[in-house]
Amino acid sequence: MCGIVGYIGNQQAEPILMDCLARLEYRGYDSSGVAVRENDKSNDIKIYKDAVRVSVLQKQSPHFNGSTGIAHTRWATHGPPSLLNAHPHLDCTGRFAVVHNGVITNYQELKRQLIKEGHNIVSETDTEVIPHLIEKFYKGNLEEAVKLTAALLIGSYAIIVLCKDEPKLVVAKMGSPLVIGIKDCEKFIASDTPAIINYTNKVVYLEDGDFGVITEDRVVITRNGEEIHREEKKVNWCKEDAQKTGYDHFMIKEIHEQPKVIRDMILEDALSDSKLTIGEDVQSLKIIACGTSYNAGLIGEYIIEELLGIPTTVVFGSEFNHRRAIFPNEAIVITQSGETADVLSAMKTMQNAGVKMLAITNVPGSTASRLSDRTIYTRAGPEISVAATKSFIAQLISLYQLVLLHPDVDNNIREQLVTELKDLPTKVEKLFDLEPQIIECAKYIAQCKDAFYVGRGINFPIALEGALKLKEVSYIHAEGYAAGELKHGPFALLNKGVPVIAIVAQDGNHESMLISIKEIKTRDAYVIALADEEDDSIDSSIDVVLRIPHTHALLSPVLHIIPLQLLAYYTAKLMSCSIDFPRNLAKSVTVE
Ligand code: AGP
Repeated sequence: MCGIVGYIGNQQAEPILMDCLARLEYRGYDSSGVAVRENDKSNDIKIYKDAVRVSVLQKQSPHFNGSTGIAHTRWATHGPPSLLNAHPHLDCTGRFAVVHNGVITNYQELKRQLIKEGHNIVSETDTEVIPHLIEKFYKGNLEEAVKLTAALLIGSYAIIVLCKDEPKLVVAKMGSPLVIGIKDCEKFIASDTPAIINYTNKVVYLEDGDFGVITEDRVVITRNGEEIHREEKKVNWCKEDAQKTGYDHFMIKEIHEQPKVIRDMILEDALSDSKLTIGEDVQSLKIIACGTSYNAGLIGEYIIEELLGIPTTVVFGSEFNHRRAIFPNEAIVITQSGETADVLSAMKTMQNAGVKMLAITNVPGSTASRLSDRTIYTRAGPEISVAATKSFIAQLISLYQLVLLHPDVDNNIREQLVTELKDLPTKVEKLFDLEPQIIECAKYIAQCKDAFYVGRGINFPIALEGALKLKEVSYIHAEGYAAGELKHGPFALLNKGVPVIAIVAQDGNHESMLISIKEIKTRDAYVIALADEEDDSIDSSIDVVLRIPHTHALLSPVLHIIPLQLLAYYTAKLMSCSIDFPRNLAKSVTVE
């Protein structure tokens, strides 16, 4: 899981590469590096890399004079973070530099052969075989050498190759994402669109098996030896989407963007595209996702079963290929990035079995959107913070919409939910009034070792998601439970002062939640309850009550998750954690 960028144009490459790279740090940030082809007679490749984050690389790197270059931000898979393992990697002669995202599974075998042939391989990475293979095959034509090299690689890759002898960049893609940004006499290459959105919104997405030769004014894409045309697309994201715009962190900026995300998603036309729903004859459904998207999937399962009665199961992308696959008629795939390797590998299995797939993704042109039969693009805009917030809300809105588009939904309920959906943005804005009270709760939690989240029914996944957010950004051990499950084991963990965050929705589970809270209070835990503003049954023994605007019970997860995102954010902030880029995590998990 790494981020790669390339630039060729009429400007100094290094500052542009650094800027783009900083926007890709969500893909990995344990090492980084840059290589530039010098604009002098030598055309030497100058390189600077280390086991440092991009901000440090930016300060330490000497300023190279050149308008063609490549850069890389790493999340170590083969070989620990170190200067030698950092990209770009060079061949023996220093004529070729390569950045790579993906995993070359047969690298050991290639490495052994290259060493036998006299190549000096210095790192423990799978990537380093690539520049050495290019060196071996180069006979004055970089593109040819890259193609011969790619033919030997097994695994996944998006690579950008820089050559001292040729004023161009050559790229190749197989299994890892790669996008080319187009602007007059400048071209930008990146793993992901947010990296280059500061410079252009015109992009070309490469497909697996594509090669590209990129010069200042041309992009030539070939496939199976033939030149092909890939459509240039316009991305509806703007520069500000990939900047903090005055906020301390992307996470809090993205939390605050949620009313806008919901507004953008419930535009009048969103509820009219009847293609974007579940087939009328579908007997069973599977939802495939990981992490936060999985939690959105659990809410999807609940509303599909509740409103449509279609038996639905939610499966982790990472589990799908590790058990007997019972294929459904249709599957819904939820993935913010559209590049999560575990999800993509489940999708490939389903594709081979002929399962129809509907993807819900935030990234136009992503691999998930290309593997699926239909795609719902969530309109969250680029999400930079590793901890997903606004994309989760956007996934929920998509799930509501796809269920409401189904003809089997009772008309009265549809009307009620559509009306309530339209009121959600204002209600979410009202939730931000809770921030001072949430900061007080964060002060309490910041000095605890553990935290528990409990909910029931449709809000049980919110307990899971609230706990996931806290773990990710504050590193405090947190667990989400279905409230009724506490007495089957986790009660043993409750003692005086342990924080328990309880979601008390105004639904059929209200009474049983109150009973669970009483039991929890009996163990002297510190209870923070999320309760409806109209709920007057909340016991005075509860330590903190966060009042949530009233909405339809089926929409309540949207309002309940936001205080929990804020709680995680402010707790991590008080603890001075690396909020946007938590340790050991990357935004797009592009390896299985
Ligand atoms: C969420 O906060 C996480 N960073 C992570 O669990 C994420 O949701 C998961 O990796 C799935 O990513 P995707 O939605 O891009 O497929």
